[in-house]
Amino acid sequence: MTQKDYNGVCQNMRLSSGVLWPMPITLDVTEEFVKSLKPGSSRVALRDPEGVMLAVLNVEEVWQPDRQAEAKSVFGTTSKVHPGVDYVLNRGNAWYVGGKIEGMQLPSHYDFKSLRLTPAELRAEFGRLGWRRVVAFQTRNPMHRAHQELTFRAAKNVEANLLIHPSVGMTKPGDVDYFTRVRCYQLLMSKYPAGTVKLAMLPLAMRMGGPREAIWHALIRKNHGVTHFIVGRDHAGPGNDSDGKPFYGPYDAQELFKKHEADIGVTMVPFNMMVYLEDQDKYVPDNEVQKGSRVLNISGTELRTRLNEGRDIPAWFTYPEVVQELRRSYPPRHKQGVTIFFTGLSGSGKSTIANVLLTKFLEVGGRPVTILDGDLVRKHLSSELGFSKEHRDINIRRIGYVASEITKNGGIAICAPIAPYDAVRKAVRQMIEPYGGFILVHIATTVEVCEERDRKGLYAKARAGIIKEFTGISDPYEVPADAEVSIDTAELNPEEAAQEIILHLEQQGFIGVGGDGAVSGRS
Ligand code: PPS
Repeated sequence: MTQKDYNGVCQNMRLSSGVLWPMPITLDVTEEFVKSLKPGSSRVALRDPEGVMLAVLNVEEVWQPDRQAEAKSVFGTTSKVHPGVDYVLNRGNAWYVGGKIEGMQLPSHYDFKSLRLTPAELRAEFGRLGWRRVVAFQTRNPMHRAHQELTFRAAKNVEANLLIHPSVGMTKPGDVDYFTRVRCYQLLMSKYPAGTVKLAMLPLAMRMGGPREAIWHALIRKNHGVTHFIVGRDHAGPGNDSDGKPFYGPYDAQELFKKHEADIGVTMVPFNMMVYLEDQDKYVPDNEVQKGSRVLNISGTELRTRLNEGRDIPAWFTYPEVVQELRRSYPPRHKQGVTIFFTGLSGSGKSTIANVLLTKFLEVGGRPVTILDGDLVRKHLSSELGFSKEHRDINIRRIGYVASEITKNGGIAICAPIAPYDAVRKAVRQMIEPYGGFILVHIATTVEVCEERDRKGLYAKARAGIIKEFTGISDPYEVPADAEVSIDTAELNPEEAAQEIILHLEQQGFIGVGGDGAVSGRS
């Protein structure tokens, strides 16, 4: 978009041509890059992450947008808790470049190829099938029975064929990965009458923009040959703000859509939330529920908890095949990977306790275990690094990266560096938690006790100034406030300390009762 289009879209959802368009589509670049551009003559290559050139942008305009104002008008808020706002303000660059794009080739995708249909391909497919009325369903979540019922009803109500059209680009942080979701959607196809439904993937980077996003979604579907579009409760909702209040009302998207329906050129099929009536064993929209009926529902959070704990997920909520697929990707905690991340001063007892823990895990087996001890890492991964803050942070990030890969693949990583800085410990936690458990264990042995022990003679050298920047003596140690377990080795021996950690893992569900991943040694 050039500036005129961008301003029109932000302010009143119109391109300069007058066409309805609710979402700015911009190329954001750094100030540094802007210096190399000449509006009117520069051409910018647009490449995929591997460097393959997909398109050329003929630079017409370069400008510095008011991104706060953009967030306010597009998303109705400048709160960075909103993922769309966070992207614009924190992850986007400060300058925008606008101009005509010439496409060269489509991005390459190697997964689910038969489900990746361009707008032209999907329109041709509808033509071939004789589908004149098509109602599309947009989703970024696995579909459960409520969604199946809703989409089936919607299609019946408007006598249309159904397109399940999930977004598989960037969605809301923390969402179920699209590979798992698409396998779930595929399983669901057999639940509809044969020949009435089609599944295709939409490579869309969602903004979680609620009402405006609903209109945007419908326009994109129109280009794919769709005539009707389902707008449910809280369409493309970003969740709650920092006060726990929803950013948009549950039916704001339906209201805004209704206002612009003629311009959109797609008929809205509005739907309330579907709920399960236990007595009648059926789903109905919540506005059709009779007073006094027993209504059941399972929230997304509750579903995650049940998956984590390996608890039952009832068939009234979701089809057993779908549950099985979700369990493959989201096994119960005692089958997930976990990182036990020790932090503490040199000589505090980290390595000794880490090694006791290692033998406990090996004794039982079930999950592969890797130990990333401070000294070992410095020998094999970080031999060129010293002990400045910068180097220590690089060292911890490397450990975090390896531990995150181990955790992702279902193993146990035991890390035992000093890791004196809070910010990088938190960054490592963030790297690992999406893949499994992260347990921070603070070995809180005081510097006095460590110095008195001085097994390696390092404290004496540090006092004598032979070793510089020595943690606890001439370099800081930031005591963690977020440790799951804190152990003072002046009070506990290594065996007792390891037991404290094991008990915490058990309490959190990372150690199962019997079977894989169980740990003995509680005698
Ligand atoms: S850090 O801060 O997490 O990157 O440190 P780490 O990789 O765990 O390395 C600590 C081990 O290196 C030895 N050593 C020092 N420690 C702290 N400060 C300084 N200046 C220093 N120089 C060398 C020391 O043996 C540490 O091992 P542990 O096992 O902790 O005693």
